[in-house]
This record gives sequence, C-alpha cells and structure tokens, in this order.
Amino acid sequence: MTETVKIDLYANNLDLTKKIASQLAQLVTAGTIILLNGNLGSGKTTFMQSFGLALGISTTITSPTFTLIDEYTEGRLPLYHIDLYRLEPAQVPSLHLEEYWRGEDFPLGVVAIEWASKLPNMPTKHLEINLSVPMRSASSERSLNLKRLNLDPDEEYLEDLPEDRLIELIALGSPYIEILRQFQEGYSTLLPKVDDRE
Ligand SMILES: Nc1ncnc2c1ncn2[C@@H]1O[C@H](COP(=O)(O)OP(=O)(O)OP(=O)(O)O)[C@@H](O)[C@H]1O
Ligand SMILES: [Mg+2]
Repeated sequence: MTETVKIDLYANNLDLTKKIASQLAQLVTAGTIILLNGNLGSGKTTFMQSFGLALGISTTITSPTFTLIDEYTEGRLPLYHIDLYRLEPAQVPSLHLEEYWRGEDFPLGVVAIEWASKLPNMPTKHLEINLSVPMRSASSERSLNLKRLNLDPDEEYLEDLPEDRLIELIALGSPYIEILRQFQEGYSTLLPKVDDRE
C-alpha cells in the first residue's frame, strides 16, 4: 500500500489560505501532481492563483472550466492547470492527462487538477488537497434570513458556529510525504504571531 500522510489545516481567512498555497508552491518539484477537491466555490481556483504567483507566474490564473487545460510556462516550473468540472469521468481518458506527468510530450512541471474526483484512474502518488467551505457560509445565509425578517443579524447568532475553512493535505507516496514534512517545518511561521507575554 502507498504510504499516506494527512495534515488538517484550519484557515480562517483568505490570507492564510493564500500563504498556505504559496508555501506549498515553494516546495513542489517537476512532476508533482496535485489533485484538488471541494464543492463549487470552495476555493480551488483561488488556491491555485496564489500557488501560481509563488511559482513566479505573473499571468492571473483563472478557472480553466471552459478551456479544460491551461498551461503556464513562465514560472520556476511549468504549471498545467486542469478543471474537470464539465466532464463525465468517462470523457477524462480522451484528455490524455498522463502526458503531463510522463515528461515526454511536455516538459515536466506541476499538474494541478480541479474536480480530481472525476478522474477514473488517479496516479497512485500525488498530493490531494481537499477544501471545504465553513459553516460560516451557512451562518451568513442565516443572517441574511434574519435581515429579511427585520431581525438584527447580531454576531451572537454566529458565535457557536465553526468559522474555519478546512484544508486537508494528503500525501500519497514518499516524494509527497517529503513535501508535507517540509511544509510542516515552515507552517508555524505562516500563522499570526501570538504575544504570549500577556
Ligand atoms: N480561504 C478562503 N477564505 C475566504 N474566501 C475564500 C477562500 N477561498 C476562496 N474564497 C472565495 O470563494 C470564492 C470562490 O472561490 P473559487 O472560485 O476559488 O472556488 P472553486 O473551488 O475554484 O470553485 P469552482 O468549483 O466553481 O471552480 C472566491 O470569491 C474567493 O475569493
Ligand atoms: Mg475553480
């Protein structure tokens, strides 16, 4: 069985999510495969935007929903950004995505696939990133409803709901486990400083 390591991160703001994406981008190597999962609007493309910037790509990364595959070659490594949202799993093999990680037809780079759960065959070794929208969106919906009812959507209604987005990083295979190990070493520096003298 392929060795697996999992890290759960709670990112309570967009800024931390961006930092996590940038930090990962510093650690990836040619041939890295990233499989992104998460509901509509959970932040997969946003994650890739920061990731791309940190790879040295100045073009703004957008969702390749219509183009299916976008190739960026100006960064430290080529980035192949793929979005399978519009496809059925049975249509995926005709894209020949394996060409991107075989390193023969394209220079080896980072392959990042949104809606990777649609892949009929996943490459065994990969880094999986699962993003989930927090309960807070449910709570903002609730506060909207309260507004409609002319009730004050006071913060106290929101207090007991979890606020943080969960970012699950799962490494399958030793090169990916090494990436996560290095990521963990630097992770504490990304967190806001807490003054513990008080
Ligand atoms: N960590 C975060 N905290 C707060 N807002 C976020 C975060 N990540 C993304 N967002 C916001 O959520 C919205 C949707 O994000 P995004 O388009 O990246 O989602 P997606 O997962 O790629 O969606 P799709 O499945 O439609 O491709 C954006 O407006 C973005 O600013
Ligand atoms: Mg997207």
